[in-house]
Amino acid sequence: MYQLTDNHGRAINYLRLAVTDRCNLRCFYCMPEEGIDYLPKPHLLSFEEMERIVRVLVGMGINKVRITGGEPFVRRGIMEFIEKISRIEGLNQINITTNGVLTAPLVPDLKRLGVKSVNLSLDTLDRQRFFEVTRRDEFERVMQTFDAVLEHGLDLKINAVVMAGKNAQDIIPLAELTRHQKVSVRFIEEMPFNGAGANQYDELWSYPKILAALKIHFPTLQKLPDPPNSTAYNYFVPGFKGTIGIIAAYSRTFCGTCNRIRLTPQGVFKTCLYDEGVFNLRDMVRTGMSDDSLRSNIANVLRLRAKDGFEAEARRTSHITESMTTIGG
Ligand code: GTP
Ligand code: 5AD
Ligand code: SF4
Repeated sequence: MYQLTDNHGRAINYLRLAVTDRCNLRCFYCMPEEGIDYLPKPHLLSFEEMERIVRVLVGMGINKVRITGGEPFVRRGIMEFIEKISRIEGLNQINITTNGVLTAPLVPDLKRLGVKSVNLSLDTLDRQRFFEVTRRDEFERVMQTFDAVLEHGLDLKINAVVMAGKNAQDIIPLAELTRHQKVSVRFIEEMPFNGAGANQYDELWSYPKILAALKIHFPTLQKLPDPPNSTAYNYFVPGFKGTIGIIAAYSRTFCGTCNRIRLTPQGVFKTCLYDEGVFNLRDMVRTGMSDDSLRSNIANVLRLRAKDGFEAEARRTSHITESMTTIGG
């Protein structure tokens, strides 16, 4: 079978598909308070267009798709779309990254469709701080999703962005979730994708700094072997049910094994989170390009892929001003 490979010899098997730029929260590390200008509907890839692109990519060796956004479940028709792509032969894993506001009632259906793993964004266990970070009072519904995912036996990863002056005090309570719950709690270095390009962290909560804070509270913390292509460096506390991870998303120390490509809601194809996008697949699809031509265009840009997120950022013609909600993380 064909296997898409980049110019650095990395096999590419993971597509991050952002199905909408809309979101029902306003997390301050992702969007300005007033929100962003959402794309008009005709600019978005339709689900039919997305399905075609996913099929083409699966034919090229993609076997894992992560549905992201924005918040995937605010787009109407998303469950039908997941059902359609779940039938694509060769697509072995469909995973979801969600903020959990609308997700709890959908968990049984997700399970039925073969989704095995849900990544839930949750930066604090304190309702008031949840409101401060997300600017919406939705903590209860997010926790219902937390419970529903575990009850239905799906894998659960918690994504917590660590921000100085906001939620550093939540590191330990969040990590404590792993004591009794089979959950992977992952602390993420903040990146400048906040829609304003603001990049002056008073103090960046880096991987070593997060690890040091964890070790003070959990002196027995031990390293786990990381799965191939993992974004997280994984740890566990002996006797605890879950695991603790740290994602060095800003330090970009995991680029050497990067197996990911991205598609934004308006069809921009990205070979790195930090690049500006290499071309627009929506326009290619809408001008009637054949599957063969789509394939050769995709294979060609992967021969020019930056070796890491620093090179991708250096090649940009403008500074980062995107919001994560338009990229999908
Ligand atoms: P798994 O497939 O479960 O390992 O999840 P994931 O870490 O690939 O995806 P998720 O959507 O949960 O993202 C967690 C964090 O990792 C987010 O902040 C993402 O922006 C960040 N992230 C994911 N992929 C990359 C990447 O390729 N580069 C960088 N720098 N950050 C990434
Ligand atoms: N820096 C780091 N991670 C971010 N995410 C969103 N914005 C940022 C940012 N500026 C994370 C969210 C979500 C994932 C897809 O991306 O926590 O879980
Ligand atoms: Fe891959 Fe770019 Fe992320 Fe590095 S920063 S892991 S190269 S997407």
